[in-house]
Amino acid sequence: MEKKTFYITTPIYYPSGNAHIGHSYTTVASDAIARYKRMQGYDVMFLTGTDEHGLKIEQKAEAAGVTPKEYVDKIVANFQQLWKLLNISNDRFIRTTDDYHVKAVQKIFRALYDRGDIYKGKYEGWYCTPCESFWTETQLKDGKCPDCGREVKWAEEEAYFFRLSKYADRLLKLYEDQPDFIQPESRKNEMIAFIKQGLQDLCVSRTSFTWGIPVDFDPKHVIYVWIDALTNYITAMGYGSDDDSDYKKYWPADVHFVGKEIVRFHTVIWPAILMALDLPLPKQVYGHGWLLFGDGTKMSKSKGNVVDPHILCDRYGVDAIRYFLLREIPFGADGVFTNEALIARINSDLANDLGNLVSRTTAMAQKYFGGHIPAGREAEPVDDELIALASGLRDRCDKAIDGYQFSTALAEIWKVVARSNKYIDETAPWVLGKDEGKRARLAAVLYNLCESLRIVSVLLTPFMPETAPRIQKQLGLSGDSVTYETAGTWGVTPADAVVEKGETLFPRIDVDKEIEALNALIPNPMEQKKAEKPKIEELAQIAIDDFAKVELRAAKVLACEPVKRAKKLLKLTLDDGEGERTVASGIAQWYKPEELVGRTVVLVANLKPAKLCGVESCGMILAADAAEDGVRVVFLEGVPAGARIR
Ligand code: MSP
Repeated sequence: MEKKTFYITTPIYYPSGNAHIGHSYTTVASDAIARYKRMQGYDVMFLTGTDEHGLKIEQKAEAAGVTPKEYVDKIVANFQQLWKLLNISNDRFIRTTDDYHVKAVQKIFRALYDRGDIYKGKYEGWYCTPCESFWTETQLKDGKCPDCGREVKWAEEEAYFFRLSKYADRLLKLYEDQPDFIQPESRKNEMIAFIKQGLQDLCVSRTSFTWGIPVDFDPKHVIYVWIDALTNYITAMGYGSDDDSDYKKYWPADVHFVGKEIVRFHTVIWPAILMALDLPLPKQVYGHGWLLFGDGTKMSKSKGNVVDPHILCDRYGVDAIRYFLLREIPFGADGVFTNEALIARINSDLANDLGNLVSRTTAMAQKYFGGHIPAGREAEPVDDELIALASGLRDRCDKAIDGYQFSTALAEIWKVVARSNKYIDETAPWVLGKDEGKRARLAAVLYNLCESLRIVSVLLTPFMPETAPRIQKQLGLSGDSVTYETAGTWGVTPADAVVEKGETLFPRIDVDKEIEALNALIPNPMEQKKAEKPKIEELAQIAIDDFAKVELRAAKVLACEPVKRAKKLLKLTLDDGEGERTVASGIAQWYKPEELVGRTVVLVANLKPAKLCGVESCGMILAADAAEDGVRVVFLEGVPAGARIR
């Protein structure tokens, strides 16, 4: 019988900067699913890749003095190398610069044009010449370019449009007929609201840059990002090429994993393109949450505040990082990445719980039986709970994985680990070991521990593909006894398995020392800003009226307290001369609240309010990056609250 197929994809990443932990998050999650499904016997296709065209890359390449292709080649190699390091088991890697993709995209564009779903029109809007970007009226800031703040002019550009508006009703019907199409549920409601606002046709070509796939029948146009990018999921399977057998075999995809910011593209534009081509739609789009820094900001290349996974893998091993990413944050929700949380997980879950269980079990099997646990075993009622819990583990993991709930699956595995550790305390093998008459009972206890670890190790494999075989080696297991099939059954460890004591799986980390070392290696947003200090001569000069827009006032700190949800923030209550206001400031690392109360600070008084980790922050206080001393707040002496600073 042919195996059932399972097709999973990650977004194709922009190679505009090196891969970071945010990209790793989606890719590791997809990899865990791909491995789990393979283990379950599916014929899996796991696709990832890079989205290489567009103005931004063209500009970056120019700034670096290389061709766009040279520029992306280097970064794509970095992505591929990171995936190798993280044991990503992708079956295919697509680059949108691959020749077969380019040709297939041109064919798709032409097919859509021939059907009348793409038409030539005029793109109009406010144009910023230096940024080469169009903006709508509402996007402008004070009538100027929202990116660079310069003058814009009304401009028109000939462009091709995709008739997205035509598909609004069919999309709404899709969400109704296929209730799991968008997951998690909350994202579906956002999409319904978005469509109900009214869909506009989508501009799908540009003439303002050249680094893209040309429209073959009108080559001054390049095909604009979404048609080029989204179609990768089918072109990588051979759609639009001579050999489309994999397309026939694997499409429609079972799930597209994407970050929440691109759910809209995947659940509105992508299905509409497929509808226009009369092709089957993916079964599901899962929009997961973001990895945030401790201060609530998103890690992103453009902010420069990214964590380099190489550093983490070097220090703790790949599996510890995979485990942390999958265990710490429920898939779908946002979650905070901190060095402290990472180390806490490694110490408690990996070193203490799992590592100890393996080392205690194997050491005792060695000590009491020279690694050969005898077949004559004496059961006792205390065994039953452990046996029941471990025997049902596979089903509970399957269920969690069906809903892509990695943290639940891992928590279930750790329940068995914890129960096993408790079982050691309950059965006290070191007491049994002293009594010759208790050999059969001791054998049962150690066999049960090995069995439970066998099941744990099998189910752990998709998440921690290096650790699981190391555990199995220590248990003396291989072949049939460590398959998915036997993970659902108790009592599979063969009588001739030889348990050996191996090296420690996860050494305990000295928290304080390590945090200090890590903080020096891994940027946090404040330190990053410091590192990025530009040379004054390289800065654009501003006119006096640019500066005049910033209203600086002296403000007295009336009260100050830490923010529970964000270790780096302090919440300040200020008297700005006209009243009281709250400001959140990322200075908790450098100041205790009592050091600020009663002092006078410089306030940016007309800054738009923003919510930081639940605190509505109205303004910002000025501070200096003072090298070794960290950040120093600018204090004023002898200036009354409310005084203007000019
Ligand atoms: N090229 C587009 C996607 C086209 S798909 C047809 C793109 N690329 S990207 O390089 O910006 O990658 C975005 C994706 O990377 C997110 O959707 C998410 O999968 C992952 N992440 C990037 N930063 C992340 C976090 N800070 N947290 C979680 N995921 C993150 O958008």
